This record gives sequence, C-alpha cells and structure tokens, in this order.
Amino acid sequence: MPIVVAIDAGTTGVRTLAVDAAGQPVAWSYREFTQHFPAPGWVEHDAVEIWEAVRTTIAEVVAELDEPVAAIGITDQRETVVAWDRRTGAPRHRAIVWQDRRTADRCQALTEAGHLPLVRERTGLVLDPYFSATKIRWMLDHGVADDADLAVGTIDSWLVWNLTGGAVHATDPSNASRTLLYDIRELRWSEELCDLFGCPPGALPEVRPSSGRIGVTDGSTALGAGVPISGIAGDQQAALFGQACVRPGLTKNTYGTGSFVLMNVGDTCPEPVEGLLTTVAWTLGGRDGAPDTTHYALEGAIFVTGAAVQWLRDGLGVIAAADEVGPLAERCDDTGGVAFVPAFTGLGSPWWDPYARGTIVGITRGTGRAELARAVVESMAFQTRDVVDAMCDAAGREVEDLRVDGGASAMDLLLQLQADQLGVTVTRSAHQETTALGAAYLAGLAEGVWSSPEEVEALWARAGRFEPTSDRAAADAAHAVWLRAVERSRGWALA
Ligand code: G3P
Repeated sequence: MPIVVAIDAGTTGVRTLAVDAAGQPVAWSYREFTQHFPAPGWVEHDAVEIWEAVRTTIAEVVAELDEPVAAIGITDQRETVVAWDRRTGAPRHRAIVWQDRRTADRCQALTEAGHLPLVRERTGLVLDPYFSATKIRWMLDHGVADDADLAVGTIDSWLVWNLTGGAVHATDPSNASRTLLYDIRELRWSEELCDLFGCPPGALPEVRPSSGRIGVTDGSTALGAGVPISGIAGDQQAALFGQACVRPGLTKNTYGTGSFVLMNVGDTCPEPVEGLLTTVAWTLGGRDGAPDTTHYALEGAIFVTGAAVQWLRDGLGVIAAADEVGPLAERCDDTGGVAFVPAFTGLGSPWWDPYARGTIVGITRGTGRAELARAVVESMAFQTRDVVDAMCDAAGREVEDLRVDGGASAMDLLLQLQADQLGVTVTRSAHQETTALGAAYLAGLAEGVWSSPEEVEALWARAGRFEPTSDRAAADAAHAVWLRAVERSRGWALA
C-alpha cells in the first residue's frame, strides 16, 4: 500500500504524519519549538529550529515505515515570513510570526492613505499586521539586505527549499494569497502591490499548484533522495480539504492556537465581504493536459482560542494541563456574568482591530477558577458565532453543518455551546489531524494515490454530532453580553 507523508509545520510545533491509501494514519511524530517574544506584541520563530524539528519528526516517522513513501505534502502556519540567503541557505532574520503586531501603525497609515479598497479588491484581505507584506518590509527596514541572494517566503517555501537542497523556491496559491502581494483573481504576484508594500518581487517564490509535483527531495532527511514533494497548502486550507469540504457551502472550523472558519465558495472568486477574508482554498494541478482548477473560500480568522487555554495553564496556573479546562468549566452552569475577550494580539474577523487587548469583565467576589475557565471556553464559541454569522450574511446561505477539528474539538462542552450559539449541527471529524490529512490528500492526488477529490471525500468520517438546544433566547442573551465585552476590549493599546 502506498504511503503519503505530510509535514504540518504549525505555530507551536511540527507534526509529521504518514497515512495509507485508506486515509488512515500509520505513524506520526511531533516536536514543539521555541516561541520568541522580543517585545510586547512581537512574536518570532527560529526558522532553523523549525527545519530541525521537521528533520527529527521525519526520521521518527520513517523509522516506523516498511513501505516506500509515494509523495510528501507540506502544510504550514500561514503568513509567517522567513528571509534567507540563497547562497548560504541561512536565515537573515528570525521569522516574523502571523501573530506579530509590530506593523500595526504601518497598516493604519496605508489605510489612512486610501489603499484599502485596492488591497481588498486584489487580495481579498484587509490591511492588518497579520499578513506577510508589512513584515517583509519591516525586515528590509531593519537590517535584512535586499540583494540578489535574498529569498523570502512563507514557512512552506522555506521547507521546500530545504527539502530540495535549495533547488526549488516555490509556494502555492493558498499560501501566496495570505501575503497581501498576490492577486487572487489573476493568480499571480501583483507588481502593483509589491510596489505599494516595498517588497522585492525577485525574492518571492514561484507559485505552483497546491496539488502537483513541485520537486523531489535531495536526501538531507531520513526520507532519502528522489521522493516527490507534490502538495502544499496553508494549514487552514489544508484542513478544509482534509475535512472533505470540497463542494461549495461546506464549512469547517479548526480550533487550534486560534480558530479559522472556512467556507468553500467554489471556483469563482467572490467580491470582498465586510469583516471577512476571501482566500484561495487550493489549486489542483490539471492532469494529462487538463487545466488547473482553483477553489476559493470565505474565511473568518480568529487569532486566539486554544492559546487562551495555554494562558490559563502557563500564564495563570489555573489548570495543570490543557485538557483540564473542559471538566473545570463544567463545574459551573454559567459564568455568573463574566465575559472574557482573548484579544491578546488584537482582534481578527470580523472586527479587525490590532489595538484591542485581552479583557475580562463582570468579575464579582464569587468568581472562581471554574467561571474563568468557562468564560474561556465560551469565548471560543462566541468568536466562532461572530464569523459564521458574517459568513452566512455574505454568502446568502446558511451553514447547515459546521465540521470541526483541532485540539479543543475534543471538548464536548465547547461543541455543545457552539451548536447552541450557531443554532446548527456541529460535527466532529473522526480525525483531529485533518490539517495533515489534507496536505497528504493534495500530495497523493498528484501522484495517483487517490484519483479525485470525490474519492478523498468518501474517506471522510465523523466521530460525534452536537445538535442545538431549542433555547435560542438564552443563547442570544449570552451572546449579547459577549458583544458588550468586545466593545470594551477595543482600541485599548492606543490608550
Ligand atoms: O493564519 C494562521 C494559521 O495558519 C495558524 O494556524 O494552527 O498554526 O495556529 P495554527
């Protein structure tokens, strides 16, 4: 049976997963890497440490395999940028992470100068420090030389470069569409936007289909030489594919560090939508001379959900392990009026406020650990409701069923609250690792392990279903309190 290996280089760790042709995981390995916080609101990664984590996890997975590897798929935390030297292969700066807010003022200045409509039209994004372009410019303004040897890219392109021994500098449209430099209708880098943001087009990677052979390994990992790298997608788009949301209307939410709700909207790029992002879901390379096909997605990007649970554990010591949060939150029936807005790095969709900050309101003398834990869990459900509501308004259609995955989707309380808030069914995928699965499917499709997206769709399975309770009035009243708390969190970092 052919094996496909997926490398999922996320925000806090790297997972390598091997799957068989039935879509079943057969081996996996995970390594966390260091988070650097050099100043308030700044987040950096060491790109070499990420590459070493990839090499280590590959070695551990390959040691468990008997069969040869037919294809490799790569998926990654999106927007995070690496600048490196093509001659030496060494990074020229620490990677600036998607959560980093250091370019908020630059984004505001560009908005005030009237550039937002152009950016919305070309990229489907907004002017927020979340995206790559202002981070690239910041590096160039702070010591990174803009010379002929400069290579810049998202984490996927850094890994492709290293896996191919520097032979290939490439990315895919789903990652490119998060940079603010890529025209999502024309499906190419935009010179106009490179000019606007001051980013050198010659340093950017070539954009190749998300499913299609990109290059082969050079032998610098335990995979050996000559293994095809045939799939790339940003982690949220990969999760959309891994959740088999391959037809318009199908929608998923991944509860990770943050949460990202994506709805497949088909092969026509929609007009920009208030509060939401339009993004490339994937481009499937045409086989046997057929044209490539691109699907688009509407996205609600929520910056902090699971990271708030980590904060309860590491910042406050309220829990000792992340999976304690559900049982602790269940010790109370409600928060007693406490609302928690986890705007640690500003607010993403639908508010787009880089100056918002974390806020807890409604504390009384009776507030304890359980109420705080419950407020954290509720904040995940409320934030998801805010973006799903905006998405339904924009798409003019209801989400009939929200497919969920990611670490916190193991929590029954969260999924019940989510179903109650949305008023729709919430379905838990049988696999939490849908992101890696999606990357594996994209790679395996290109190498003939699977023949069509429909075949991949047939592999999808669910492991739980949560129906909304009928008390809409109670759900709406709780949500109204949340919205008041969001208002209090906004604009705080300016004060
Ligand atoms: O856009 C950021 C997103 O891709 C990060 O995902 O799972 O690494 O938190 P994750």
